[in-house]
Amino acid sequence: MEENYREVSYSQTIVSELMIPAYANFGGKIHGGILLSLMDKVAYACASKHASNYCVTVSVENVDFIAPVEVGEMVTLTAIIIYVGKSSMVVRINVIAENFLAGTFKTTNTSYFTMVAKNKAGKPTQVPGLILKNKEEIKRFLEVIKRKELKTTYKKELQNARLSLLVIPEEKLLEKERCQLIL
Ligand SMILES: CC(C)(COP(=O)(O)OP(=O)(O)OC[C@H]1O[C@@H](n2cnc3c(N)ncnc32)[C@H](O)[C@@H]1OP(=O)(O)O)[C@@H](O)C(=O)NCCC(=O)NCCS
Repeated sequence: MEENYREVSYSQTIVSELMIPAYANFGGKIHGGILLSLMDKVAYACASKHASNYCVTVSVENVDFIAPVEVGEMVTLTAIIIYVGKSSMVVRINVIAENFLAGTFKTTNTSYFTMVAKNKAGKPTQVPGLILKNKEEIKRFLEVIKRKELKTTYKKELQNARLSLLVIPEEKLLEKERCQLIL
C-alpha cells in the first residue's frame, strides 16, 4: 500500500472562546479544568483531521498554567501535529488569552497531547506520515523523539529511586521536609 503523508498545515486547528463568568473559580479566575477541556477538544479535532479517524487522548504533558486567565478574555488555542509514530500523534497546543479592554495578549501555556488513532474495532491504526517543510517543524519533530527518550529514562530512574527509598530510614529522608511522622 502506498504511504500517505500530510502537511502540518493540513490539520492545524484554531479555536477561540470567550471566557464567561460561569467558567470562573472561587477566586474569580478561569478554572484550569475549563482550559483543559478546551485543549482536549482542539487536540481531538487536530489529530482526527490528520488521521481521518477517531482518536483518543493517551497522555498530556507540560500543562503548566504560567498566567491566570480572567473572565472576559478571549482564549485562542492553536493546535498542530508535531510528530507522528505509527498510530500515535503528538499535538502541540499553544494557548493565548487576549484582553480586549487592556489591548494585551498573554501566552498561558504550551502543552503536548499524545493522541492515538483507532479503527472501528477499537484498535490502534496507522496514521499518515508528516511532511516537514521547514527547520522549525524538523526541530519540533526531533524534540518529541528526545522527550520520549527522556521520559523512558525518567521512568527507569524513578523506579530505581522507589526501590532505594525502601532501604533508607524514612526519618532521615524527611528530616528537612515540612511533615510530621506519626507512626
Ligand atoms: C493508549 C492505548 C490506545 C494503547 O493501546 P495498546 O493496545 O496498548 O496499543 P500500543 O501499545 O500499540 O500503543 C499504541 C500507540 O500508543 C502509544 N502509547 C501508548 N501508551 C502511551 C503513553 N503513555 N504515552 C505516549 N504514547 C503512548 C504507543 O507508543 C503506540 O504508538 P505508535 O503506534 O505510534 O508506536 C490504550 O491503552 C487506550 O485505549 N487507552 C485509553 C485512551 C482513552 O480512552 N483516552 C480517553 C481518556 S478517558
